Amino acid sequence: MGSALVPLTLLVLLLTLAASQPNKDDWDIRHFHINSTVTSRYATTIITSRVTNSMDESKEIEFHVQIPKNAFISRFRMFIDGQVYDGVVKTKEQAQQQYTQAVSRGQSAGIVSSVGRTMEEFKTSVTVAAHKKVTFELTYEELLKRTLGKYELQIHARPMQPVADFKVDVYIYEKAGISYIDVKGGLSTKALANAITKTHADKQAWVHFYPTVDHQKTCDSCGEQGMNGDLVIVYDVKRDDGLGDIKTSDGYFVHHFAPSSLTRLPKNIVFLIDQSGSMLGKKIQQTRSALLHILNDLAEDDFFGLITFDSSISQWKRELVQATSENLEEAKVFARNIPASGGTNINDAVLEGAHMLNAHPREGSASILILLTDGDPTSGVTNPEIIQSNARRAIAEKFPLYCLGFGFDVKFEFLEKMSLENNGVARRIYEDSDADLQLQGFYEEVATPLLTDVTMIYLGGTNLTKTNFSQYYNGSEIVVAGQITDNNIETFVPEVVAISSNRKVTFSNTKPSVEPSTETVAEGLLQRVWAYLKVKQLLEKEVLLSGPEKEKVKKETLELSLKYSFVTPLTSMVVTKPQENKTEVLHKPKEGKRQRGYDISFKHSHGRGRHHSLLLNSNRPVLQKNGHVTRNRPVKSKHISPPLNEDYSLSYASLPRDFKIIRYESLRPSTRLLAKHPPPATSAPLTHRFLLKTENLSLPLCFDITGPAILKLLYYPTRVLHINGELDSETNGGFTKIAIHVTADHHIEVETEMVTVQKGQAVTRYAGQEIISYGSVNVQRSNREINVTVDDMLLRILVHVKNGHKFLWPVLVRWPLVSSAEGISALKPVDYEEAHQQQTKLIINHKNVHVTRSSAHDYSFSSPLELNCWLSSPDDALQRPHQDFFTAQI
Ligand SMILES: *[C@@H]1O[C@H](CO)[C@@H](O)[C@H](O)[C@H]1NC(C)=O
Ligand SMILES: *[C@@H]1O[C@H](CO)[C@@H](O)[C@H](O)[C@H]1NC(C)=O
Ligand SMILES: *[C@@H]1O[C@H](CO)[C@@H](O)[C@H](O)[C@H]1NC(C)=O
Ligand SMILES: *[C@@H]1O[C@H](CO)[C@@H](O)[C@H](O)[C@H]1NC(C)=O
Ligand SMILES: *[C@@H]1O[C@H](CO)[C@@H](O)[C@H](O)[C@H]1NC(C)=O
Ligand SMILES: *[C@@H]1O[C@H](CO)[C@@H](O)[C@H](O)[C@H]1NC(C)=O
Ligand SMILES: *[C@@H]1O[C@H](CO)[C@@H](O)[C@H](O)[C@H]1NC(C)=O
Repeated sequence: MGSALVPLTLLVLLLTLAASQPNKDDWDIRHFHINSTVTSRYATTIITSRVTNSMDESKEIEFHVQIPKNAFISRFRMFIDGQVYDGVVKTKEQAQQQYTQAVSRGQSAGIVSSVGRTMEEFKTSVTVAAHKKVTFELTYEELLKRTLGKYELQIHARPMQPVADFKVDVYIYEKAGISYIDVKGGLSTKALANAITKTHADKQAWVHFYPTVDHQKTCDSCGEQGMNGDLVIVYDVKRDDGLGDIKTSDGYFVHHFAPSSLTRLPKNIVFLIDQSGSMLGKKIQQTRSALLHILNDLAEDDFFGLITFDSSISQWKRELVQATSENLEEAKVFARNIPASGGTNINDAVLEGAHMLNAHPREGSASILILLTDGDPTSGVTNPEIIQSNARRAIAEKFPLYCLGFGFDVKFEFLEKMSLENNGVARRIYEDSDADLQLQGFYEEVATPLLTDVTMIYLGGTNLTKTNFSQYYNGSEIVVAGQITDNNIETFVPEVVAISSNRKVTFSNTKPSVEPSTETVAEGLLQRVWAYLKVKQLLEKEVLLSGPEKEKVKKETLELSLKYSFVTPLTSMVVTKPQENKTEVLHKPKEGKRQRGYDISFKHSHGRGRHHSLLLNSNRPVLQKNGHVTRNRPVKSKHISPPLNEDYSLSYASLPRDFKIIRYESLRPSTRLLAKHPPPATSAPLTHRFLLKTENLSLPLCFDITGPAILKLLYYPTRVLHINGELDSETNGGFTKIAIHVTADHHIEVETEMVTVQKGQAVTRYAGQEIISYGSVNVQRSNREINVTVDDMLLRILVHVKNGHKFLWPVLVRWPLVSSAEGISALKPVDYEEAHQQQTKLIINHKNVHVTRSSAHDYSFSSPLELNCWLSSPDDALQRPHQDFFTAQI
């Protein structure tokens, strides 16, 4: 492993932190400005950095900044030697083509992008001649979203070195008036207080942050490499309680609707909590802690339900109960004791949650379903599409489903689609020390429903963004933009209709019509707000569609992205550099996909609760002085508090290809790195689920056999004939090969695409549909099934397709007359009794058997059905050691 384990002092910790930042000795940042202009919640930020190559030779100079995830980059340019190099937004395919061509010409063309919690990285570099300058200029745009009663503009400042001319300027203009403005974030500390000025004059506000070089070296989170931190501008606007704020200009309008003096609606809320094995440890602790806080927050007229699920589901109470103090106390005891083990049965959890809410209709209330999970469905119905369609059917647009994906092992796209299909949103909960706060924070956003069934109506409006919203929560905001037909303000009549406390309410303008904006809104600004919203919503819509409809929406999104020059998930920016026409392509990273990154997993056994620091390095010497490598510069370091004795892993979005771990340090030396990149191939165990039918109509049994393995399908203790099947070793399907041994030197092998007959030395292959007859054996083949008859027996081998992968499934249609036949295909139906009270116990042949509710595909039909079943261990289901059915050779 080669990792030195060094006891760590605080000093070393500080040093390693400082060392983690690239050293930019070779160039000199003359000027670094961040200029943000916010008009009507739409923020346009320009970052400008002027850098001089102070060396006597040409040098590669890097521009590396972070921008909010929600933003779209709309412009990037470099000024070098009087020349302007503009980034061009192209379709992803065009950009990729240019990129590929560059690579094939041997040029290094980097795709630079990665995602963090709220920010994503933009990184590029350019070679600049000795003593020459380059100016980088990046523009990005975002519509600030109101949550918990405020807008937040996050600005990340990390120029990589102290800069003499460093400025952050923020200007906010809100026509309705700014109710308050605050400056927060890691850079807003006492030490920097006199570098920040804040001016607030009714409709306008200015924030200036001009730290001196000394400030930049000495503040918290600052060092020799200068500043590294955030400035967060927090504000809200004044508002009336009616229709809200409508701006019009150039034939476009933007409507901000956020009434707050309405009575809150009592809510019916069901929490679906994943308690599968992967939640074990910190995640389940944080979930419990968040739940306890949330329970404290419920109002007495709220009703709630708690469902925990692993392979099966368990309810705290079968029905929703009122949030009385006794019930809450009882629920807290339940919440404190949520264990973690087993699989992930999302399907049953969502269905049961929906059922509970549906069974509790209450006029004038708002129902909410919240699912928290950290993994993919692995138990019960596991097909994402079936789960989604089940969820859609059960919820039927009656209430929103919010999905919280805990960590990076979740198929976020699946959660996103499921929530969007049910009027909700999906949110990632980052595995970190504040995960409980993230969970509570999400709950708070939906804690106070004020309106349901909100319909925004615009007479004389066209090309509208989304106008129907299932619920409106206090502290949030509904924004709709659109065009005004023929730019005729006179005939433009906005109106909002919604349900509040069981009655229909209408918000309309008391004035005869909307006033045209007299004050200056920068030209084209509302149009850009419209385009921004439209693109965001189309990207969400696209997720839900398929086929030609999806393509249509994609095309529309693409056209808008190109027209407004937004770098979206469908477009890329191509940056052509001066030397050798070098090209770089910038993609917007997509939330949801597991980051194209690196995992480092490890385990440590001492040093409880202390901070550790992990340093990763590139093999490539990066810092050279007088021809000597003085130091292998760490590329990343991270403070971590890994749980004791548990596997722990960190994900990095970007690391050099050839990195290695140079140091893993803890306060105690006994920490052990178990694995490093690439993580050990954790190919999930291949399980093949078998159904065991029952005599009467009771639920069948099912059991899992973990492949690869060769099973005895059918054999007679008294005869030569035996049939074996080889379980697929690549997918969780069925068999890849089935062999029928007729005599000692005569056997027939069936595969999905062909039949092979081997008699002595003679081998014949058949891929056609002919009938193959060999003595008492007849084989008849089609693309979907193969009939094998031997004397009186008929074995039909069905060919199934799952995820584009074919496999075989044998079904014994006509049993051999000799009744002594045995094997997996010749299992007799079982009888069992349900043990009283205990739902998870069956009695099979006088033996108590532990089971869980699950499901399995019945592959004995050519169109497999999914059936519910009792999942038991294979030994219990087969009533003998399942290895008895294994054989070494096909
Ligand atoms: C910030 O940018 C805006 C728009 O480009 C410009 O009008 C304004 O003067 C700039 N502010 C500063 C302080 O540079
Ligand atoms: C909504 O939030 C505002 C503050 O943002 C608060 O004054 C008001 O009481 C809240 N309304 C309800 C019904 O909780
Ligand atoms: C709506 O937008 C499309 C595309 O931008 C445009 O072609 C069309 O003219 C617009 N409709 C109206 C009524 O303005
Ligand atoms: C929006 O809601 C209204 C009334 O509830 C309904 O008539 C209309 O079809 C809905 N529109 C969309 C796009 O769902
Ligand atoms: C760069 O591109 C231009 C135009 O495509 C071409 O004329 C020139 O030769 C290229 N330069 C190099 C160094 O490839
Ligand atoms: C099925 O049959 C067995 C015995 O024949 C009986 O004990 C059992 O209760 C039956 N189950 C159901 C669900 O009818
Ligand atoms: C297999 O046998 C069944 C009757 O049991 C018949 O319907 C089917 O067509 C046969 N398949 C082939 C490929 O011959």
